[in-house]
Amino acid sequence: MYKQVATAVSFASLVLGQQIGTLTPETHPSLPIEVCTAPGACTKEDTTVTLDANWRWTHATDGYTNCYTGNAWNETACPDGKTCAANCAIDGAEYEATYGITTPEEGALRLNFVTAENVGSRVYLMADDEKYRLFNLLNKEFTMDVDVSNLPCGLNGAVYFSEMDEDGGLSRFEGNKAGAKYGTGYCDSQCPRDIKFINGEANSEEWGGEDGNSGTGKYGTCCAEMDIWEANMDATAYTPHPCKVSEQTQCVDDIECGAGDHRYEGMCDRDGCDFNAFRLGNKEYYGPEKTVDTTKPFTLVTQFVTEDGTDTGALKSIHRFYVQDGVVIPNSETVVEGVDPVNYISDDFCEQQKTAFGDNNHFATIGGMAAMGKQLEKMVLVLSIWDDHAVYMNWLDSNYPTDADPTKPGVARGRCDPEAGVPETVEAAHPDAYVIYSNIKLGAINSTFTAA
Ligand SMILES: *[C@@H]1O[C@H](CO)[C@@H](O)[C@H](O)[C@H]1NC(C)=O
Ligand SMILES: *[C@@H]1O[C@H](CO)[C@@H](O)[C@H](O)[C@H]1NC(C)=O
Repeated sequence: MYKQVATAVSFASLVLGQQIGTLTPETHPSLPIEVCTAPGACTKEDTTVTLDANWRWTHATDGYTNCYTGNAWNETACPDGKTCAANCAIDGAEYEATYGITTPEEGALRLNFVTAENVGSRVYLMADDEKYRLFNLLNKEFTMDVDVSNLPCGLNGAVYFSEMDEDGGLSRFEGNKAGAKYGTGYCDSQCPRDIKFINGEANSEEWGGEDGNSGTGKYGTCCAEMDIWEANMDATAYTPHPCKVSEQTQCVDDIECGAGDHRYEGMCDRDGCDFNAFRLGNKEYYGPEKTVDTTKPFTLVTQFVTEDGTDTGALKSIHRFYVQDGVVIPNSETVVEGVDPVNYISDDFCEQQKTAFGDNNHFATIGGMAAMGKQLEKMVLVLSIWDDHAVYMNWLDSNYPTDADPTKPGVARGRCDPEAGVPETVEAAHPDAYVIYSNIKLGAINSTFTAA
């Protein structure tokens, strides 16, 4: 047994890599988008999506043996991260059968919550078969339709941008042989540690199974994140999260990762500067039968306005509005003592909101809107559905901190019961939940939509 391993290891040093498995062909579902210069003047791009590597079957390169099962690594194949990446391959995905990912019509993506053993999913938009589609959002608007009518409390249908490498880290890390085609190179502003391969090595060191089928390792993977849409039927927020680093970067300890007590010392702004209408005092704006009625689909528009109105200017503000049944619905205005009544995000808004809510303005410390703006120049689009093993999505749709007085400004974020998002509860109660994202467009300000 030991000899076999030793052989595998020495062989591995010749072909280092987070290898490609070939047992299931990888066929990226089609998700075309449009790029617009003026209303009605849009060009279609034949983009597709790929499933994140974390969800994929990871097995020994020479066969069907799992390298990772449930929440544990196979210690024979994975005595350390480098060897593991050499011994293990990530394989193609059966999008519909295994993950419940379908394209019900052209330009639409449906993500189901639970499909047999699989819970949630995360996909990235691809320009071609090997590369993610990079977005420069400055002085642009990003528009899409969402249907959250089957997405209850405790779930999050999230659409956001992360500053990932265009090739998923293939050229930067010799251990990564799979690349963007297989959904590698994920990062976000939480510096997640539940990612199985980071920088071309398995994150197997100090790996601890959390519950069910996830775990966390020693390393995290950090980068700037712009949350366009974190939502369910009852709550929504959009949130910039800048970082000190301007590309996907591994964090190696609690301080760099901003974990636990080190939340405000890490590379990234984990809190972000969120705009959540309910939290900001307008409880009648978003939800079933509310101003933006979540029982039916609607369009959301997010505009990235620069100081000088050019594509290279500093980011000044991030605006939002909705279009539903042909009517343009402005974003809700803040109703919080100490916060000017505004309906967009700017440095002033963030400062006032953080002060009013007693929050640490780490957003400003990291560089605020200007830092976020620089990082919006080369972003990868992420589309996902997930439930929250750490804090049950309470930060989005319920009271958070959970033990704080909900009448204190900033604590109440939505109508949901704080227990609704406990993973076992929501997975048992709503396995058939889903979200549909469609008609994705990028373009000049005011070019991607028309009101009736
Ligand atoms: C672990 O991997 C080794 C080598 O690839 C294999 O022989 C063994 O059966 C695997 N163990 C499990 C529990 O899958
Ligand atoms: C976009 O449209 C809005 C609403 O009609 C208007 O207030 C704004 O000035 C327009 N922006 C640009 C850059 O045309």
